[in-house]
Amino acid sequence: MPMKTADVQAAYAKYVFGNYTRAPIAIVRGEGSYVWDADGKRYLDLLPGLGVNGLGHSPPRVAAAINKQTASMLHIHNNYLWEQQPLLAKALVERLTGMNGAKAFFCNSGTEASEAAIKLARLYGKQRTPQKWKFISIANGFHGRTYAALSATGQQNLQKGFEPLLPGFSYVPLNDIAALEQAFDAETAGFMAEPVQGEGGIFICSADYLNAARALCDKHGALLMYDEVQCGLGRTGDYFAYQTLQAPAPDVIWLAKVLGGGFPIGAMLAREEIARLMVPGTHGSTFGGNPLACAAALAVMETIEQDNLLPHVRDMARHLARGLEALRATHAAKITEIRQVGLMVGIELTFPAKPILARCLAQGLMVNVTHDTTVRLLPAMTVRATELDDGLAIISRVLEEF
Ligand SMILES: Cc1ncc(COP(=O)(O)O)c(C=O)c1O
Repeated sequence: MPMKTADVQAAYAKYVFGNYTRAPIAIVRGEGSYVWDADGKRYLDLLPGLGVNGLGHSPPRVAAAINKQTASMLHIHNNYLWEQQPLLAKALVERLTGMNGAKAFFCNSGTEASEAAIKLARLYGKQRTPQKWKFISIANGFHGRTYAALSATGQQNLQKGFEPLLPGFSYVPLNDIAALEQAFDAETAGFMAEPVQGEGGIFICSADYLNAARALCDKHGALLMYDEVQCGLGRTGDYFAYQTLQAPAPDVIWLAKVLGGGFPIGAMLAREEIARLMVPGTHGSTFGGNPLACAAALAVMETIEQDNLLPHVRDMARHLARGLEALRATHAAKITEIRQVGLMVGIELTFPAKPILARCLAQGLMVNVTHDTTVRLLPAMTVRATELDDGLAIISRVLEEF
C-alpha cells in the first residue's frame, strides 16, 4: 500500500531538508506528458522534470536501455574502458557545428558541467599567461549552485548568505554589446552565456551579441563558453540552441538535464586543443559517464533521431506560438510579454505569478514560476498539439480568476 500524501508530507517535514518549495502532491507514476498522484489524479505536465524529461516521462527506449544495461554492469570506474562512453561522446560531438575535432567529458549534473568548464577555461587561460583567469557572465543567468557555478550565476538573491564568492567573476547585461566590450580585458579567460536563459525566465541572446562575444573572445584570447544545460539537446528545434539562434560556435559547451532522459548525467564538449589540457589528475568524477548513465543518454540520442523529434519540436513550437498569441490577446491587460524559442516559453505577467501555480495544479496542470512574474513552460519534445492546447486553456481559465 503506498503511503497517504499527508503521511509522505509529514515524513518530508521530519526527515528531509526544507530547501525546496514542494507542492503537497505525491507523484507515483509518469508517462509522456502526464503524471499521476497517489490519489489517482492525473496532471498534464508542461514542465516535466524541470527540463529533464525532455522525452516525456518514462521514455520507453531509455527505460529499456537502462534495464538492459543493469543486466550486465551498473558501474565501473574511469580507469578502465567501456564502449558506451566513447559512443555517446561521438553521438554528441558529431552533432556540433563549427567545432571540428571536439571531445567530451562526462559528469553527473549541470552544475558539475559548469564547474568543469570553468576549470578547463582557467587551465587554458593560465597556459597563455598566468594573469588570464577571469570570467564574464550574463546578469540574470543561471549556471548552478556550487561555488564556481554560483559565482558565475549573476543573481545576487541566489548568492546571498554564501559570500564571499570566488573572485574574478563579473556580470554584464544581456545583449548589450558596448557593456561587453567594456568588460573584456587581457585577464579575461572566458565569457559564459546561456544562449537562451532558462531559470532567468526565457531571455534570448541575439546572434549579433554572440557574434560580438566571439570577436571579443578571439581578440583577447578568451574562450566562448555556452551553457546549454537547459536550452540544449533539441528543445529549441536543433540539437544545440546556438544552431537555432544562428550564433557562432563556442569553444566549450555543456549539457545535462535532457541528456539522460531522467538519469543523471552531464557533459562538457570542447575543441580538441582545449580538451587536451585536462590530463590525468586535473579533473575527474567517480560516477561521471558510467555505463548506466551512458546507456540512458545513448537511448535519448537514438530517440531524438529515430522519432524525428527535431522537426516535431519545430512543428509544436509553431502551434504553441499561435496559442500563445491568442492567450496574450485574451489577457492583454495581464500579460506584458511572451518570450518563446522552440519549446521554451516565458509568459510575463503584470502581477506576482506564484498564486497561479496552485490554481493550475487544482485544474490538473503543472507549470512553474520563475523570477516572481514569469510563468515558465518547458514541454516535453514529444508533446502533442492537443496537450499544448489543453494546457493553454487551463492557463487562460486560471488567468480569468486574477
Ligand atoms: C543553464 C543551467 N546551467 C546549470 C544548471 C544546473 O544544473 P543541475 O541542477 O543539474 O546541477 C541549470 C539548472 O537548472 C541550468 O538551467
